[in-house]
Amino acid sequence: MAEVIRHTWQVLADDYSTAGEASASLKKVLKQLGFAADIIRRVSIAMYEGEINMVIHANGGTASAEISEDRITITLADSGPGIPDVGLAMKEGYSTASDRARSLGFGAGMGLPNIKRCSDDLKIETEVGVGTTLTITILA
Ligand SMILES: Nc1ncnc2c1ncn2[C@@H]1O[C@H](COP(=O)(O)OP(=O)(O)O)[C@@H](O)[C@H]1O
Ligand SMILES: [Mg+2]
Repeated sequence: MAEVIRHTWQVLADDYSTAGEASASLKKVLKQLGFAADIIRRVSIAMYEGEINMVIHANGGTASAEISEDRITITLADSGPGIPDVGLAMKEGYSTASDRARSLGFGAGMGLPNIKRCSDDLKIETEVGVGTTLTITILA
């Protein structure tokens, strides 16, 4: 696999029925390309948590993946409310999820810490009122 493979998914706002489709689709692509199980697991978790966050916190957004032999880079970009205090948001158990999201099982406050744990590099660019972009790198 000398070339770089790129995929993009639109993640819809408040669409709990299709949430998780981008990560499931990426997982399938990585399996077909023959990546190791542990790499696939970490990418899938990071993508899933980032995707869910765009659904429940940010009115949806765009998820994309750049796959090369030695690394997978995931970009999750939204035009949501932004994160006022990233340090606080990174804490295990911290969540501002709505009652509706909680009633559906989301809002444990473990998403961002899980993304951090699964990634070799995590960059969070966020501005209140403008949006958030996560850039996640996982080395293969
Ligand atoms: N894309 C995003 N846009 C705005 N706020 C976000 C976004 N992602 C995360 N957050 C904020 O960070 C908090 C922690 O996120 P996370 O650890 O995934 O927990 P949870 O999603 O269960 O609330 C969220 O409750 C929310 O306040
Ligand atoms: Mg979350």
